[in-house]
Amino acid sequence: MIMKEIEIQKLLEEIRSRQNEYKASGYGHDSVSTPLVDELAHVECAGLTARRARFEYETGVERDPIVLSKGKGAFLWDANGLPYVDMGACFAVAAYGHSNPELIEALDQQAHKLMHGMGDVYPTDVKVSFLKVLATLAPGNLSGALLSQSGAEAVETAMKMAQMATGKSRFIAFESSYHGLSYGALSVTGHQNEFKKPFASRVCHDTTHVPYANCLRCAFGRKPENCEFACLKNIERLLKLPSGGADDVAAVIAEPIQGRGGDVVPPKGWLKALRELCTRNGVLLILDEIYTGFGRTGEVFACNRENVVPDIMCLGKAMTGCFPLSAAIATPEVLAKWPLNTAEAIHTSTFLGNPMGCAVALKALEILQRDNLPAQAAQKGTWLLDEFKKLQLKYPDVIADARGAGLMLAIEMATPDLSPLTDLALRIVDEMRNRGFILLPSGPWSHVISIAPPLIIPRACLEAFVQALDESIRTSLLS
Ligand SMILES: Cc1ncc(COP(=O)(O)O)c(C=O)c1O
Repeated sequence: MIMKEIEIQKLLEEIRSRQNEYKASGYGHDSVSTPLVDELAHVECAGLTARRARFEYETGVERDPIVLSKGKGAFLWDANGLPYVDMGACFAVAAYGHSNPELIEALDQQAHKLMHGMGDVYPTDVKVSFLKVLATLAPGNLSGALLSQSGAEAVETAMKMAQMATGKSRFIAFESSYHGLSYGALSVTGHQNEFKKPFASRVCHDTTHVPYANCLRCAFGRKPENCEFACLKNIERLLKLPSGGADDVAAVIAEPIQGRGGDVVPPKGWLKALRELCTRNGVLLILDEIYTGFGRTGEVFACNRENVVPDIMCLGKAMTGCFPLSAAIATPEVLAKWPLNTAEAIHTSTFLGNPMGCAVALKALEILQRDNLPAQAAQKGTWLLDEFKKLQLKYPDVIADARGAGLMLAIEMATPDLSPLTDLALRIVDEMRNRGFILLPSGPWSHVISIAPPLIIPRACLEAFVQALDESIRTSLLS
């Protein structure tokens, strides 16, 4: 337990009294402004600052960013000292809680030994220990990993692995998928065209984007009862084409559950059928578990839900719970085609397998297994999804779906005929922030309210969250 029960209750009380002040002010006050925001505008890429100004222009919601300064367990504090419950684990990273003392200790011990090594040239002992544990935890015979820093880099590595293993260079990826924004990863990312538009001339156009298994909005007009995996049949049809088909496609890349695309959960059996389809057609399956991995969906990896083993898996985020470390891990068959280094490694980087990252990842994976965090996520998530479904029944005109797995859950704000309610979703997210809960919108129209809290989040925080969400929906519908 990172925080004592009494400390949690005290913080929730502080948040509740802030909510009362907020109500008393007629839902008007903004507690987050700090001079740091103006200072930031002078030293940060204008694109990021302009994004906030545009948000205000488009939605009429004034929204200075919260400047974070401290975290503990499931709580974050802003620069003014106000506490918040972190319902997103800061992009699904802080699974073990912010400033987890065991992770701090692991970092501290490693920092006193060796803070930086020599990548792939002279590996560190702690990297060996970590990779051994990762290979044990990974499904099936996934056993050879190449480490990097960000999720996007892990995706780039996976793409190179697939290309090298098959001698083919095309990819099939999904609409609304998110795999990162570096050039290679961007070419397979399907989410939000805006990401690609300014760079279109440089982004590789060797990817075919196909509809994902989004049963609520089936691109093939099917109902779940007669779906017959029409979206997979579409992929199979593409793979049979004489040009751009299986002879050219190295791999299909998929998130087992789409994260930024709106927490879209494919129907049961879909992932297994995708695996079989890839095998049948001689193309590799890359699963991007950067968001879903390490307990988030109630299993260590989301592919374990269907006993599926991909050829390559991308990992990041909760692998350390705090430190930029990512991995692409593959089967021996895939890696057998990776050429032996002659003079230079063909894919490496200065910080590859940084010892601090490996040490903290090693400890994170120990906590994950020792405290059975996937089971905790499953149990808390079952309760919370039930509460989301109750909200859907209460607000049927504006909540079209409540869904998710483990602690990766969402409600989709849309009319009964599925018109996305983006303004309402953004207003609710903002209302929640004023009530002391940090969460983010997702989905192709930013109309989905998503949560991915630390897996260790106490039940009391979830109960307070549900109550605040109900109030925020009600207030937002009135405004
Ligand atoms: C599924 C998935 N893949 C890749 C990425 C990119 O990771 P990063 O932002 O660390 O590059 C993300 C980030 O949200 C993600 O959710």
